[in-house]
Amino acid sequence: MKTFILDVDTGVDDAFAIMFAARHPEINLIGITCVDGNTNLKQVVINTLKVLDAADGKNIPVSAGATRPLIEEPKYAEHVHGKDGLADLGTPNSKREVDPRNAVELLRDLVESSKDPVTLIPLAPLTNIALFVRTYPETAKKLEKIVLMGGSASGGNATASAEFNIWHDPESAAIVFNSGIPITMYGLDVFNDLKMNQDKANQLLNSGSDCGVFAGKLIDHFIQRLHRDVTLGDYGAVAVALYPNLATVEKYKVVVDTTYGPGRGQTVCDKRPYASLELAGWHKDAPEVEVVLKIEVDEIRNLWMKTIIGN
Ligand code: BDR
Ligand code: CA
Repeated sequence: MKTFILDVDTGVDDAFAIMFAARHPEINLIGITCVDGNTNLKQVVINTLKVLDAADGKNIPVSAGATRPLIEEPKYAEHVHGKDGLADLGTPNSKREVDPRNAVELLRDLVESSKDPVTLIPLAPLTNIALFVRTYPETAKKLEKIVLMGGSASGGNATASAEFNIWHDPESAAIVFNSGIPITMYGLDVFNDLKMNQDKANQLLNSGSDCGVFAGKLIDHFIQRLHRDVTLGDYGAVAVALYPNLATVEKYKVVVDTTYGPGRGQTVCDKRPYASLELAGWHKDAPEVEVVLKIEVDEIRNLWMKTIIGN
């Protein structure tokens, strides 16, 4: 059994991750914190509670955190995730209550009270996590590790160089990467590998499970709207946190570019075998990060299907 906390900007692929984490018998999901990203914070919270309804997640506190990045104005991804951030399916709102604590306070309480080591899994811009690291550094150090969806060792999606979650709030990302907490970066090098096609959507739609039908609708909607297969995206980070043997990783020194040029938000990964000879100087203090370069696609996708619909 592993103890996880998710930080989300739900988001269609965040939904796939939440469903899995709430349902998998070897995951003790002790809380979910929300941050603005794919859409505004209020909508992220609404979406997260809806997903927990579909997943039948029991007693999982959900709290709201940052409404915007530290420095820049928010830039939402509603063109990808729909106006409501969750494919505009018109799903009724949940009757679940939001935890009254701010995300930072909930993170502190959960980490301090956990008897088991906690893995934090941010699937969104890192604003909440940076605020947590700065507000309660001693508590943050008690985390076993952070497995985050974000960044890339091979080009971006929000810009040519930067991945969305890092680009949305590069200053927060820099704080988290430099926190000293062990980090696994599940980025764009693998993010799009977990493709779901129309057959898989139909299997979910005909599964007879509420969670399966909800997931099937999300995938079906995307395939119809974007005319391409959909990735399980953020879910992959949760799978790799649960079963690290399903990923191939390399350790690189990583620097988050916080300058205001074309590289803003890029995670610069030093892959050079002779990296210790770095001449520019910035590299010396850069943290070593475990970067996921390859995943066992079929196994990870099957694991998700089995957890959502039982086969
Ligand atoms: C990331 O950005 C969001 O749109 C997705 O939910 C994922 O976390 C991919 O760049
Ligand atoms: Ca996300």
